[in-house]
Amino acid sequence: MIIAPRIRGFICLTAHPEGCEQNVVNQINYVKSKGDIAGPKRVLVIGASTGFGLSSRITSAFGSEASTIGVYFEKPPAPGKTASPGWYNTAAFEKKAHEAGLYAKSINGDAFSDEIKKQTIDLIKADLGQIDLIIYSLASPKRVHPKTGVVHNSVLKPIGQVFSNKTVDFHTGIVSEISIQPANEEEIENTVAVMGGEDWAFWIDALKEADLLAPGATTVAYSYIGPSLTEAVYRKGTIGRAKDHLEATAFKIADQLKEIGGNAYVSVNKGLVTQASSAIPIIPLYISLLYKVMKAEGVHEGCIEQIQRLYSQRLFTGSDVAVDDKGRIRIDDLEMRQDIQDQVSALWIEATTETLPELGDLAGYKKDFLKLFGFDVAGIDYDKDVNEVVEIPGLV
Ligand code: NAD
Ligand code: NA
Repeated sequence: MIIAPRIRGFICLTAHPEGCEQNVVNQINYVKSKGDIAGPKRVLVIGASTGFGLSSRITSAFGSEASTIGVYFEKPPAPGKTASPGWYNTAAFEKKAHEAGLYAKSINGDAFSDEIKKQTIDLIKADLGQIDLIIYSLASPKRVHPKTGVVHNSVLKPIGQVFSNKTVDFHTGIVSEISIQPANEEEIENTVAVMGGEDWAFWIDALKEADLLAPGATTVAYSYIGPSLTEAVYRKGTIGRAKDHLEATAFKIADQLKEIGGNAYVSVNKGLVTQASSAIPIIPLYISLLYKVMKAEGVHEGCIEQIQRLYSQRLFTGSDVAVDDKGRIRIDDLEMRQDIQDQVSALWIEATTETLPELGDLAGYKKDFLKLFGFDVAGIDYDKDVNEVVEIPGLV
């Protein structure tokens, strides 16, 4: 079929298999161009199909020749219906990994469930024996709790007071004022239940219990801080509470892994256009201004540049992992540079519907959004008939 974007709000209902494949190939080529990384050889990525998780899987495989198992939750294709982009990304990744002689298998299902954890454990036992690195990169709006069956839904709200500020609808470019009512206690708890560290700890417990953690095993989860501009709705809001919990969980897991000489880290990554971040109010306006400034300064990075740098300059350098005063790895260092933030703050004040196309990189934002779904990718003929039914070669 001929596949065009069908956008509804924060998501695109269609995805292009060849565009997704090209995105993956571009990421693979980037990692290869940067040379070998002395990283671990048996890697489990939870949330492996898009965003930072996909880039982690690619960096492990093509930077360190690692065997990878990916866990993700994606919609398969059907005749006349496209898959979700993570499906096509994974199909492309596993095809390329297999061509390169690398082990790559995956499991599609709810990573929060006991069942998917068990399937993953069985696969590791059968194929890899143990795991050296676990990347935890889930972003989900909800979680069915495996012990209670309760469905927790996350919200993106401030805490304690109404938050009013500018936002942009990145499809129309209209800048407007929004006010977001503060979350109540229950909403805070639910958001922590979804995006906090409990499930990460459950994964590590389950792997440890099954004796699947190799000596020196390391685990890394991803967090975000961002500027004071977005603080009330992000870092000091409900999602920030969840990130606080995730960061606190890293210390607990690190303690637990000490006996096998392992460690647990949170890496604070840069704000980027992903399916998860485009749904957060205020963030798209911030990101479009940030992109403009970082591109002008020559320090812009996407997911793959971030993760390649995380691996090669933080995690696997052969010396101690540098962390901040709260024990976190910082790969958001360029985003948070004072001169960058000062410029973004100045542009923020000036940004209106009329000025944003000039002041911000709205075009870059839109392009990156479409790219998430395999559209607007250089070299792809979108008028061509393509097969929407694509299989994932290593899907278990
Ligand atoms: P993303 O939406 O691109 O990726 C989410 C991944 O989780 C996908 O592979 C998806 O299939 C998987 N997933 C979601 N629900 C699942 C479930 N129930 N079971 C199994 N898999 C499931 O998101 P992302 O932006 O790459 O976010 C990953 C992490 O990075 C999050 O913790 C996020 O907070 C963090 N982070 C994001 C940004 C940003 O700006 N996007 C910045 C810093 C940190
Ligand atoms: Na991810």
